[in-house]
Amino acid sequence: MTLSQNINLLLSKFFISQDPKAKAFNSFYRELLQSDVYEKLAFKIQGHPTKAYNLLTKENYSFLKEWLKSEEIQSILDYGCGLGPTSDLIEGRPDILLTGCDFSKAAIAHNQLKYPNHCFLTFHHNLKLHHHCDSVVCLDSLYHGFDQGRSVEDNLLKLLNPVTKRIILIQNFSNATPPILSARWKVNIMDITSSFCQLVEDWNQELLSTEVQEDREKYPLLWGTITREFRHHQTSLEKGFVKRFVATYEKS
Ligand SMILES: C[S@@+](CC[C@H](N)C(=O)[O-])C[C@H]1O[C@@H](n2cnc3c(N)ncnc32)[C@H](O)[C@@H]1O
Repeated sequence: MTLSQNINLLLSKFFISQDPKAKAFNSFYRELLQSDVYEKLAFKIQGHPTKAYNLLTKENYSFLKEWLKSEEIQSILDYGCGLGPTSDLIEGRPDILLTGCDFSKAAIAHNQLKYPNHCFLTFHHNLKLHHHCDSVVCLDSLYHGFDQGRSVEDNLLKLLNPVTKRIILIQNFSNATPPILSARWKVNIMDITSSFCQLVEDWNQELLSTEVQEDREKYPLLWGTITREFRHHQTSLEKGFVKRFVATYEKS
């Protein structure tokens, strides 16, 4: 590891120790990893390939799986990797080197055990990540610069390096659309807001079930967070404040 990478890791540890959201995500993931009810419902509604926390639908996973099949992909940066759904989707491609980063130590520790052939780092999005991956995957993970006033485009540009050739971005946008980047990038944007509406409806329905109410007693942080999140999505959708997109980018 170079000196600047070492300094980056030390700074990252410092940022994580000072960020209450990192602590909150960590405790959240600890509960999520234990709840069989969450895993069962998330699989039923979203079809997660493994334990995961994002807003992807089964159709989004099929699209992502196809996108990941490209022979051109040799290395992937999974930015804000959470519990590693991308690692699961590339099982059977030992030729791909995956680097996942996230500020949750619990998520990274889980991934290091589950996917020993991939590389996982605790990393804080405030810093610039130096990597050499040809492809970048961001699944509901580029929001986190908003509180520093950075746009999704700024956050995305921060992730690119001269060898990056392919990007996939799946996430919500408030009053904006995915960035177009420069003319060197061929961009394909799909509006998936209507399937997201269905997902929000399905989760809000399940959150009322007795099964969830009982599990809530064991995992209050998990279900409290999920309930707040899906209520918020419902309101944002009703008011037309949010849209959801899949954006793919290829460098010519
Ligand atoms: C909605 S989850 C998505 C996780 C994963 N991409 C997936 O599809 O399951 C957002 C992830 O971003 C991570 N995250 C949030 N803010 C971060 C920050 N400032 N630095 C690093 N990771 C962050 C969280 O720990 C969480 O795992």
